[in-house]
Amino acid sequence: MGTTLIFEHVSKGFPGCGPVLDNFGVTVPSGSFVSLVGPTACGKSTLLRLILGLDQPDAGQIRFEGDGAGRADVCAIAFQEPRLLPWLTVHDNVGLVLDRRSGDCAGRIKALLDLVGLAEFRDAFPKVLSGGMAQRASLARALANEPDVLLLDEPFSAVDALTRMRLQDALIRIYMARPQTTIMVTHDIDEALFTSQQVIVLSTRPAHIVDIVDVKAGYPRDRTDSNLFSMKARILRGLGVVALDHQDGDGI
Ligand SMILES: Nc1ncnc2c1ncn2[C@@H]1O[C@H](COP(=O)(O)OP(=O)(O)OP(=O)(O)O)[C@@H](O)[C@H]1O
Ligand SMILES: [Mg+2]
Repeated sequence: MGTTLIFEHVSKGFPGCGPVLDNFGVTVPSGSFVSLVGPTACGKSTLLRLILGLDQPDAGQIRFEGDGAGRADVCAIAFQEPRLLPWLTVHDNVGLVLDRRSGDCAGRIKALLDLVGLAEFRDAFPKVLSGGMAQRASLARALANEPDVLLLDEPFSAVDALTRMRLQDALIRIYMARPQTTIMVTHDIDEALFTSQQVIVLSTRPAHIVDIVDVKAGYPRDRTDSNLFSMKARILRGLGVVALDHQDGDGI
C-alpha cells in the first residue's frame, strides 16, 4: 500500500549555475510526511521537479516503490507559483485533473473548495484571486485525485499567518484521513514542525543534507509544545542561524 521514494546519490546541475544537488540520498517511507527546509536557491524546487520526472538527474536515481505503476500516475504537486489556467474558473481549474470515471466529480470539487475556503469563489477566474487564494486553488487541484505522493512547494507562502495556520490544520486533517507520502518544501520551520514526521535540512547550493530531524509527536499537534521549540533551535543551527546570547547593557 502506498509509495516509497528512494533517492540514491542524486546530483543535478545547470549550465551557468553549476551543481545544485550533490549526492542527495534519503528514503521517504510510504505514508510519511517529510519537509525540506533550506536556503533560497539551494535546489528544493529542483528536487521536486526531479521527483515528477520534469527533469532528469545528472547522476543517481529516484526510485518509486509500491503500488504506483509510474510516477505520473502517483504524484500530484502544488507548485510554488499556482499555475492556474487563466481561462478556466476556480471550479474548472480544480476539476481539470479529476478522473471523470471516479464518480461524483461535482461533489468532490465542492468538498475541496470548502476545505481550502474557496467555495464562494468557485466561478471566479484566476485574475481576480489574491496570491493566497490562487495558492489555495492550486492545493485543492493537487488533492483532487487523492495522489499516492503529494508534493507541496511552499504551498502557503502567499497566505496570511492566520489563514496559513488554518490551512496547515486542514492539510493535517487530510493527511490523517488518508496518509499519502507527502514532501513539502517550506521556509517556515514552525510549519515544518507542525506538519512533518521528518524535517530534512539542506545546505546552501550545492544542496546536501546537513541534518534530519525526526519529529516524534502525534497528530494533531500542539503549536506551543516545548519539544517542538527545541527541535526548532536544532534546525536553525543546521541552517547556520546562530542564536545570539542576550547581552545586557550592550547599547542595542
Ligand atoms: N532550468 C534551469 N536552468 C538553469 N538554472 C536553473 C534551472 N532551474 C533551476 N536553476 C537554478 O538552480 C538553483 C536552484 O533552484 P531551485 O528553484 O531549485 O531553488 P529553491 O531551493 O527552490 O529556491 P527558493 O527557496 O528560492 O524557491 C537556482 O540557482 C536556479 O537559478
Ligand atoms: Mg523553490
